[in-house]
Amino acid sequence: MTVTYSSYLKLDQLLALQAPRPGVLEHDETLFVIIHQVYELWFKEVLHELDYLQARLRANDTPNSAATLKRILTILKTLVAQIDVLETITPLSFLAFRDRLESGSGFQSAQFREIEFVLGKKGRPSFERYPEGSASRKQVERRFNEPTLWDAFLHYLAANGYPVPKLAAEPSPEVQRILVEIYKKNPNVAQIAERFVDLDEGFMEWRYRHVKMVQRTIGTKMGTGGSAGAEYLLKTLNQPAFPDLWAIRAEL
Ligand code: HEM
Repeated sequence: MTVTYSSYLKLDQLLALQAPRPGVLEHDETLFVIIHQVYELWFKEVLHELDYLQARLRANDTPNSAATLKRILTILKTLVAQIDVLETITPLSFLAFRDRLESGSGFQSAQFREIEFVLGKKGRPSFERYPEGSASRKQVERRFNEPTLWDAFLHYLAANGYPVPKLAAEPSPEVQRILVEIYKKNPNVAQIAERFVDLDEGFMEWRYRHVKMVQRTIGTKMGTGGSAGAEYLLKTLNQPAFPDLWAIRAEL
């Protein structure tokens, strides 16, 4: 069979997937399903690029690390901007189908947890959300046990001649001293560090926009995932993945 646009992209399958249950959806539910699916596709691509970024850093490849960071950051802008689309769903139209989600929530997104783990945010593993033996459980556990992007960055610094400690706890005054030196004397490496700050700020921006969207849509109601909702989400704000890069600002 010749390859066509539709066969290459498996469009028949893809476009049949916006059906969370049999029967007719509420009008705004189509948008709700599509936007979550789009997020999950972007999460897949972000993980793919984060893997590549770690490999490039470990190979001390500055140009390709910078290019990959630029790509991830551009995707992140899209992820944040998509919240505008979600905010066109009013509280009442969301309520028309909220019950149908039962306990379903972005809380359970395995790929989101994977991204957090790659970024080194391993504080709340909560594997029990994913059934033992399931593919998601395996993926999430694998990521949890793997080195982080920060480990790859420290490796990159070592390859550039900086005496970084092998296993630096975060935050680390030793790493911070090295970073200050880099910012003052090595613009090539410093630009990679700055893109890490962009990445960190970008994820925090997504969290901020998500919680504001949650507040305007469900107010103080509990989340479908079983948390306190906005109250829980507010606690996840302003928690950088790379604290050392923020700590040094006052020294520059
Ligand atoms: C009307 C739209 C949405 C509402 C009302 C909403 C609400 C919530 C609430 C209340 C939580 C807290 C956990 C819980 O459920 O108890 C949560 C968590 C989460 N949501 Fe949403 N959400 C919406 C859309 C989205 C979208 C489109 C995504 C993209 C994938 C998303 C991703 C997440 C993630 C990753 C978490 C976990 C955050 C964490 O644990 O740090 N949400 N959401």
